[in-house]
Amino acid sequence: MFSLSSPPFQLLCCLIVLFILPLPSRSADPDPLQDFCVADLNSSVSVNGFPCKPAEQVVSDDFFFDGLRKEGNTSNIFGATVTSANVFTFAGLNTLGLSTNRVDFAPGGINPPHSHPRASETGVVIVGKLLVGFVTGDNVFHSKVLSPGEMFVIPRGLVHFQLNVGEGKALAFTSFNSHFPGVVISSTSLFGSTPSIPNAVLTKAFQVGDDVINGIRSKFGS
Ligand code: GLV
Ligand code: MN
Repeated sequence: MFSLSSPPFQLLCCLIVLFILPLPSRSADPDPLQDFCVADLNSSVSVNGFPCKPAEQVVSDDFFFDGLRKEGNTSNIFGATVTSANVFTFAGLNTLGLSTNRVDFAPGGINPPHSHPRASETGVVIVGKLLVGFVTGDNVFHSKVLSPGEMFVIPRGLVHFQLNVGEGKALAFTSFNSHFPGVVISSTSLFGSTPSIPNAVLTKAFQVGDDVINGIRSKFGS
């Protein structure tokens, strides 16, 4: 047998790392196979992503998007709104493994606990003060109050939120390593699904009575 510091053992470790690193399960969206593939959102062909618009029909405007210029309407129960530049709104992102959100907050507004099944997220605060937090797979809560110019990262799939803790409005831009990261909002997916999750599941899961579950359901329309 060889020891941990022996060259054969180190060579074996290097080979294991080299084989494991490229496995698709470690990445977000797959790498593109061409320079660009502006999505043809009207195609009837169904693939993992969208088929490409014919290259001769691609124009400069396919690579630009002005949908994040305007402040979002924050008149909703959360006092915050997310405007997305993803493959559905900005077809030029198709296959590139990237997207961006603009998140506007009224005073006291919250982007409620949610997760993204297909991407990690980074974010930069542009205006105001945000309490940003996420919970790890072993239930450790990490959080920090961020000011303009400061940045955060949320590892893929973990539940996270941003709460406006400043005096006025707040604004952040977030980025994802997927052209369509997806979003699962904890409260609406548990209490606002169609059809509803049975009370027997939710009362047991949260260790409360039907009255509490029905009270929360009534806020999320299920
Ligand atoms: C913020 O968490 C976002 O998903 O844009
Ligand atoms: Mn998010």
